Amino acid sequence: MVDTADAPNADTATAPLPHHGVVPPVWGRITDLDVDRGEGSWLITRDGQRYLDYSSGIGVTNTGHAHPRVAAAVAAQAAKLLHGQQNILYHEPGLRLYERLPRLLPGGPYQAFLSNSGAEAVEASVKLARVATGRPAILAFRYGYHGRTAQTMALTTAKDVYRAAFEPLPGSVYHTPYPYCYRAPGGPHPPEACTCDWEAQLDLTFHQFIYPERVAAIIIEPVLGEGGYIVPPPGFLPRLREITARHGILLIADEVQTGFGRTGQMFAVRHWDVEPDILVMAKGIASGLPLSGILARQELMAAWKPGTHGGTYGGNVVSCAAANATLDVIEDEGLVANARERGAQLLDGLRALRARHPAIGDARGLGLMVAIELVKPHDGDGRVPDPELTKRIQAEALTRKLIVLTAGTYVNVIRIIPPLVTTADEVDLALSILEESLVAAGA
Ligand SMILES: Cc1ncc(COP(=O)(O)O)c(C=O)c1O
Repeated sequence: MVDTADAPNADTATAPLPHHGVVPPVWGRITDLDVDRGEGSWLITRDGQRYLDYSSGIGVTNTGHAHPRVAAAVAAQAAKLLHGQQNILYHEPGLRLYERLPRLLPGGPYQAFLSNSGAEAVEASVKLARVATGRPAILAFRYGYHGRTAQTMALTTAKDVYRAAFEPLPGSVYHTPYPYCYRAPGGPHPPEACTCDWEAQLDLTFHQFIYPERVAAIIIEPVLGEGGYIVPPPGFLPRLREITARHGILLIADEVQTGFGRTGQMFAVRHWDVEPDILVMAKGIASGLPLSGILARQELMAAWKPGTHGGTYGGNVVSCAAANATLDVIEDEGLVANARERGAQLLDGLRALRARHPAIGDARGLGLMVAIELVKPHDGDGRVPDPELTKRIQAEALTRKLIVLTAGTYVNVIRIIPPLVTTADEVDLALSILEESLVAAGA
């Protein structure tokens, strides 16, 4: 028998690629592309095909793929120090980032904590809220997505696959309805005229499930992501802030997907001038290197005794260098403003498509976090979800070399998450591909 441990290393540059079957099926995948590299809004396969990547690696590559300034910062840092453990030492990229992140959010004053993944940062926010308030319960919103670890699965209700096979889940978590204006009873209503009764439902939650004085925090995605790219009505977040403050409940804004310019503000809560007690961040923070964290009011952060939270890799030095370069690029290239402008262009285009294709029940979004919801316009009340059509549109777009994702509990939403560096020409190209794909898919 050959001892593979002693076999010479294969030349990985020339050896044939292993079969895709080496990767476990739990990684559900929307393409079979073998990608060699990325440039800005584009992914380039090993055989040289160029795909317009309007998934941004699920909302991560806000500065585009392999931005030269980010890549250079990563390479320079990797040559100096790959791992500088936070319980052992301080490193310059980390110190700069810890100092810089709180300045991105008015109010507070805030302090940052750094970890690796979005779910890990949500876990941190829950632990901190419980320890700082001494209260047990956490309230989350229906349709929300917060991750796939045990605690974050318990918070998540975006879609059955994220939790339904994994009971028992951690307790003292309660859910209350989110204002989903398109699906409001008797709707759809435009968000400005929304009649969603989320406030009455929250009050019922307090009267039927849990006393408000037992609730440590309410966690909310300011714009719902995986649950369907749902933008709340204008008064929602300010009113939620008032209610939480009245009951001494902390407000946690999960900005893992909405953060770092995605919605046309550095953080989405700024659209409504709402100051959360804790803000969760990841994805766009480091252009693709694993990094996440929370911003919490300083007095809350002080409630955490040394050692009660942490992790081996949190605030990795190379990821911190990538994050500092990412923030420089966002600032120097005006990417937040570009997200607003290109987002308006994209949403206008999608609304025009909606006027021509009744299968598009709703076109919505904020900044470059945009979506269309596909329905069967002649069935039921005209809002019956159409996941089959959604899948066909996504597949047709892929054959035309446009990558888009789906979302929503019934997987009937096409979500479009371009990198924030995208150009007006690229947006026009995506819109024309989407229209061709709608027609080809029989919409
Ligand atoms: C709003 C939100 N919270 C948390 C997460 C979990 O982040 P991660 O996949 O990095 O664990 C995600 C990921 O999509 C997200 O969109």
